[in-house]
Amino acid sequence: MCGIFGFVGKHDALSTVLSGLSRLEYRGYDSAGTAFFDENDAINVIRTTGRVQRLTETAPKTNAGGAAIAHTRWATHGSVCERNAHPLSAGRVVLVHNGIIENFRELREELHYTPISETDTEIAAALIDSLYDGDPMEAIAKAQKRLHGSYAFAILFRDKPGVIYATRCESPLALMRTEQGSFLSSDPSAFPACGEYLVPQEHTIVEITADAIHARGEVKTAVLNKLDRSEGRQGYAHYMLKEIYEQPQALRRTVERYLVDGHVDFSQENIPDTLFDGIRHMHVVACGTAMHAGLVSSHLFRSLAGVEVTAHIASEFCDAGVLVDDDSLYVFISQSGETADTLAALRRVKAGGGRVLSVINRRGTIIERESGNVLHTSCGPEIAVASTKAFTAQVGVMYLLAIRMACARGRLDAQGESEAIASLLAGVDSVAPAIALHPQIAAMASRISKAKDVFFIGRAADYAIACEGALKLKEISYLHAESIAAGELKHGTISLIEPGVPSVAYLTRKQTCSRVLLSVQEILSRGGTVYLFATEDMEVPEGLDELVVCRLPAKEGAGAAFSAAVSLQLLAYETAKQLGMPIDMPRNLAKSVTVA
Ligand code: F6R
Repeated sequence: MCGIFGFVGKHDALSTVLSGLSRLEYRGYDSAGTAFFDENDAINVIRTTGRVQRLTETAPKTNAGGAAIAHTRWATHGSVCERNAHPLSAGRVVLVHNGIIENFRELREELHYTPISETDTEIAAALIDSLYDGDPMEAIAKAQKRLHGSYAFAILFRDKPGVIYATRCESPLALMRTEQGSFLSSDPSAFPACGEYLVPQEHTIVEITADAIHARGEVKTAVLNKLDRSEGRQGYAHYMLKEIYEQPQALRRTVERYLVDGHVDFSQENIPDTLFDGIRHMHVVACGTAMHAGLVSSHLFRSLAGVEVTAHIASEFCDAGVLVDDDSLYVFISQSGETADTLAALRRVKAGGGRVLSVINRRGTIIERESGNVLHTSCGPEIAVASTKAFTAQVGVMYLLAIRMACARGRLDAQGESEAIASLLAGVDSVAPAIALHPQIAAMASRISKAKDVFFIGRAADYAIACEGALKLKEISYLHAESIAAGELKHGTISLIEPGVPSVAYLTRKQTCSRVLLSVQEILSRGGTVYLFATEDMEVPEGLDELVVCRLPAKEGAGAAFSAAVSLQLLAYETAKQLGMPIDMPRNLAKSVTVA
């Protein structure tokens, strides 16, 4: 979280960092700021609460060039106010920071430093200033020995105009040299051009001028092949809506990429079948929506590949002390490829010698680099904070993985493989007709938007869908939503059902039909309203008071997860829209969660 951008060049340093910053706004948007050298070689700092747009409106329109750094914030320490916005200054040092300085209180005491802001960052500026005797790299190197936590810093020294210093530990940082000058960014996709870029390794310190980048420490090179940019909202009211509507193509592209001559084939990613040899257990590790994609697909690994699966919340994985062993495969799912909790779990498994595979959307990211074995979702940039097309694509890749594992383990013959692929493709085909449910779902949303609490229920894979339904609704509509395994309702939560309280139920398996309908009846008996999403082949009662049925355009089975996903996304979107919420950038959230 937090985006940092920097530029040193002969022209337009300020406007260059402001436009770079706007491409990083997904990382945090509660406040923004910039620092730049003016024509007298003095550092100017401008900070605002709110979006980058506001900072751009406040900043002077002309700037002769030189060096500038900028920051978009997602608050961790200290409220959202101008005083806590970056850049933060102490003495001769002005810096921007992405990460968390864990020992900031201890350092404040050691240095007898009285901060102006409430942030954990300001002490880093004070520490570097206290160690500075004219050699910036030396001061930063000394400071690193005393800083605990994660950081990517871009630093200006008042007596070094035209130079940016930078370093990192855990948090991402990339550098690029072009004819116009030198860039630094939290995310290479914010660079203005494709081409080779540099990734400073942990604790490497770099000195960036218009003509050169000097490193003290190791720097690796990487290549940005494609500018992973969204081409705007293209007439849609929100990015989220655009991304929901892009799913038929995004999912098909993702799935078809790994279908070669009618078989699931991962050879283009160099994933050999031997990765699955002797696997007895799979651990799927991820956060939020990505974790729900793991949960939805768990059932497939059991039924198709005969492998037991546990889906873990990444932030719990380390604390819960999950064992790392030889006969397990650890699968990490991440759209952004840089979620800190997922990365920490990946590192733990790698340190324990476990077999690793990751499912990633964004290229060139840290989880991708550190995983080795990677399958990609091909959905293009996902801009809205609420994940939609990445979710269906992740489920698609997990479906393919289950089929490949089942074949490699001799659980599926050629005929079985064709049938499994056909049912996956039927699921892909159901996405476009599911989008056509939009008006019907909008009508449901107009009632749901008047509620305070909404309950989501389902069994097995439908419970995983319910978890995603509740998450999506609460993150963008701010209504309280809770997912409950349908069978668990009667063990406590049913006490919250009273007349008018809405519940949303998913039903895509005949095997669970009668039991889910029993839970539905129990809610109706207590005066609750149930919105039931059921596949077209499910026998459900019609004409009951307070039971609203929406038919998903799919037959029962694993592929139905795709149309169910679309329906819950549209329900959340329409509810939030009717409540007038800022759908693409909900309060307190950021697209990449890079703090643990
Ligand atoms: C919810 C959402 C988040 C992310 C989670 C993991 O709509 O987007 O819950 O799914 O933060 O992010 P990635 O997939 O980038 O690791």
